[in-house]
Amino acid sequence: MKIFALSGSVREQSYNSGLLNALANISDKSLQFEIYKNLKSLPIFDPALADENTPQSVLAFKAFLAASDAVIISTPEYAHGVTGVLKNALDWVVNAPELVLKPVAVMSVSTSGLGGLRAQNALIMTLVAMNWNVVVEGSLNIPYASRRFNRDLSISDELTKKRMKISLDSLVRAAKDLR
Ligand SMILES: Cc1cc2nc3c(=O)[nH]c(=O)nc-3n(C[C@H](O)[C@H](O)[C@H](O)COP(=O)(O)O)c2cc1C
Repeated sequence: MKIFALSGSVREQSYNSGLLNALANISDKSLQFEIYKNLKSLPIFDPALADENTPQSVLAFKAFLAASDAVIISTPEYAHGVTGVLKNALDWVVNAPELVLKPVAVMSVSTSGLGGLRAQNALIMTLVAMNWNVVVEGSLNIPYASRRFNRDLSISDELTKKRMKISLDSLVRAAKDLR
């Protein structure tokens, strides 16, 4: 079972990337958990290049997603939406037939009290438009990030660790059922 993850933040000390690393650390050894690290290398989306003359970095991104059994996307909320860098990446794969019905869990970590809920909702709408299979039970929302992470971005809070395990287990179960 391959779970591939994507952080909507390119910030070095990103809580969302920290969450994905923490999920990788708690994931069962039988899982292959990989985090995509090249979001910054994707060019600005141009529909004219989506089907032909597609940039190599975009082809690699598509292939990365296609090789997974399920995807986790964790994004910050920027101005009540997802980050531009994440939306740009998703625009490149909007019409990828090989990604249709891809099981995906939507997560958000925020320093605010709503935990990026609006960005999560916006992301769900985008993924539904792309015909991905949003696994609702796999979703996770972490508010007040500074209270739940240590300085090294490991998780400091037991309840958050339990919620992470429930989300990951739910996604894996759904992906197995959909195989
Ligand atoms: C440009 C910008 C806009 C933001 N807008 C929101 C927002 O609308 N709602 C919110 O809850 N947090 C907002 N934030 C706060 C981020 O969501 C928060 O700092 C989050 O932890 C960043 O994620 P990261 O640690 O993974 O980079 C914004 C931050 C930035 C830089």
